Amino acid sequence: MMNKLRLEGKVALITGGASGIGEATAKLFIENGANVVIADIQDDLANQVIASCEISSHPGKICYFPCDVRDEKQVEAAVSHAVTKYGTIDILFSNAGIMGPMTTFLDMDLDAFDNTIAVNVRGVAATIKHVARSMVAKKTRGSIICTASVAASIGGAGPHAYTASKHAIIGLMRTACYELGAYGIRVNCVSPFGVGTPLSCTAFNLEPSQVEQNCCESGNLKGVVLKAKHVAEATLFLASDESVYVSGQNLGVDGGYTVVSRSYSVTSSN
Ligand SMILES: NC(=O)c1ccc[n+]([C@@H]2O[C@H](COP(=O)([O-])OP(=O)(O)OC[C@H]3O[C@@H](n4cnc5c(N)ncnc54)[C@H](O)[C@@H]3O)[C@@H](O)[C@H]2O)c1
Repeated sequence: MMNKLRLEGKVALITGGASGIGEATAKLFIENGANVVIADIQDDLANQVIASCEISSHPGKICYFPCDVRDEKQVEAAVSHAVTKYGTIDILFSNAGIMGPMTTFLDMDLDAFDNTIAVNVRGVAATIKHVARSMVAKKTRGSIICTASVAASIGGAGPHAYTASKHAIIGLMRTACYELGAYGIRVNCVSPFGVGTPLSCTAFNLEPSQVEQNCCESGNLKGVVLKAKHVAEATLFLASDESVYVSGQNLGVDGGYTVVSRSYSVTSSN
């Protein structure tokens, strides 16, 4: 029996698609039949992603549009480019993000705080606004997925501005879910635990394998190394029609990290 491709004929805009989780998601979406527009600020990396997709027999399925998500005009232009090239947008993966500086609260630089909020919150708001406008105008019952984090649910899992920004993304997701439900548009979040991408490696000055080792030690679910591909698979579920009545949810890809406290411990008597 032939498996139907899970995103056959759909068009996705992916911010932060030049690297890490966004890159893995762009590739998985294409393998599942979607057309993808990557919006990012890293031209060279984005073009490498496009080239690697072109040679793996997906010509014309993916393109790059340079876009700093802090700038609403650039976001509007990226949305407009996607619609002109592929006719519509069915899926937004609002994923671009930065970790920002790792300082104590007492040493917090408020300009750096503003920049983290600008990328991680304003950027997500701008992408939801312009993609939702396009979906409403074209009567597209689309799916919007935002990348939050374990730091969206608990303190102590990332820098202060990052934690505030990721909590805010949950709020944006919920309020957008409320308004856009009237148009048949679903809005959800994915919230990963640590993945060895440039974001985490640069922040902690570690190699991907070291980030993974630290995450395996501190993580709740043992025996699995969390990879960008695993986050992409959760995102694919939320993007596809398999989640047709799922909206307003924050899907943890964290092995249960955010729902346990590890303060209670017993040893089996067996
Ligand atoms: N890696 C982790 O451990 C982890 C855990 C939880 C959540 N996340 C979230 O996942 C998302 C993706 O991060 P990643 O780990 O893949 O990191 P990454 O650094 O590999 O990818 C982030 C991408 O966002 C792009 N970007 C940054 N600022 C931008 C801007 N102003 N405009 C447009 N694009 C911009 C970068 O160029 C990069 O391509 C982020 O939102 C991050 O907060 C990551």
